[in-house]
Amino acid sequence: MTVAAGQRAAVIDGKAIAAKLRGEVATAALELRGRGVNPTLAVVLVGEDPASAVYVKSKAKAAREANVDVRDHKLPATTSQAELMALVETLNADPIVDGILVQLPLPKHLDSEAVIRALDPAKDVDGLHPLSLGYLAGGRPTFVPCTPKGCMRLLREAGAELAGARAIVLGRSVLVGKPIALLLANANATVTMCHSKTRDLADEVRRADVVVAAIGRPEMVRGDWIKDGAFVLDVGINRLDSGKLVGDVEFAGASERARAITPVPGGVGPMTIACLLENTVEASRRRRLSA
Ligand code: GUN
Repeated sequence: MTVAAGQRAAVIDGKAIAAKLRGEVATAALELRGRGVNPTLAVVLVGEDPASAVYVKSKAKAAREANVDVRDHKLPATTSQAELMALVETLNADPIVDGILVQLPLPKHLDSEAVIRALDPAKDVDGLHPLSLGYLAGGRPTFVPCTPKGCMRLLREAGAELAGARAIVLGRSVLVGKPIALLLANANATVTMCHSKTRDLADEVRRADVVVAAIGRPEMVRGDWIKDGAFVLDVGINRLDSGKLVGDVEFAGASERARAITPVPGGVGPMTIACLLENTVEASRRRRLSA
């Protein structure tokens, strides 16, 4: 973490922490390779969504750099549900494939829930299968969704004491809000989940020692809502009309009050891919060495 002149908060350097984690994963993957196991991630991209194409490309590059093999499956936007389900079945049955990532969102005519339900839970490195989420809710996670997992690592690296802390999660998506709330509760925080129907959001935020913002509304959390000394994780990435990228939190104001805060970009974002690779190597180890 670094403290810049004129602001109180330490800025949590997600890029550096993600690089450190990717290094740890690369070492673990190399160790597996030494035992004849090549960790392998299958990445499935359906359609031409440009943002998804960029994500998938960076996932594949980071995987190769971390000694994880990648099988790319690019399907046209016209792919049918049956064709996609057939690919998932093939990947489930392929002994070489340790982890399967189906990039979301899928084109509108496809049922993404059915696709995720069809994944072999032992290969669910995205942690989105109902069984993975159920194990997380039970406090004994198998695979944890990547962005929430990255958030927990950042809190740990920033030195946040979670036991007994009041934590607030803004947003209740399956990808981020719900799993991070469970992880924080599993770490003995007192967790409040807020969303679009929450009555007095400012009041809720003012009480929080830990704030995780994942609502996708540019700078909706005002800096003066943040409690002195709070830890602030900003999961939002919003592009303004000016082209500038901002988070869900008003960074300048919040960093005058917070003890530590993630920037956008360069905070939570880089952790997602690093955690995906960590899950993939873990899946490989469990599948191929524990038998
Ligand atoms: N799209 C945006 N984030 C994610 C993610 O974590 N996993 C998948 N599969 N798709 C995404």
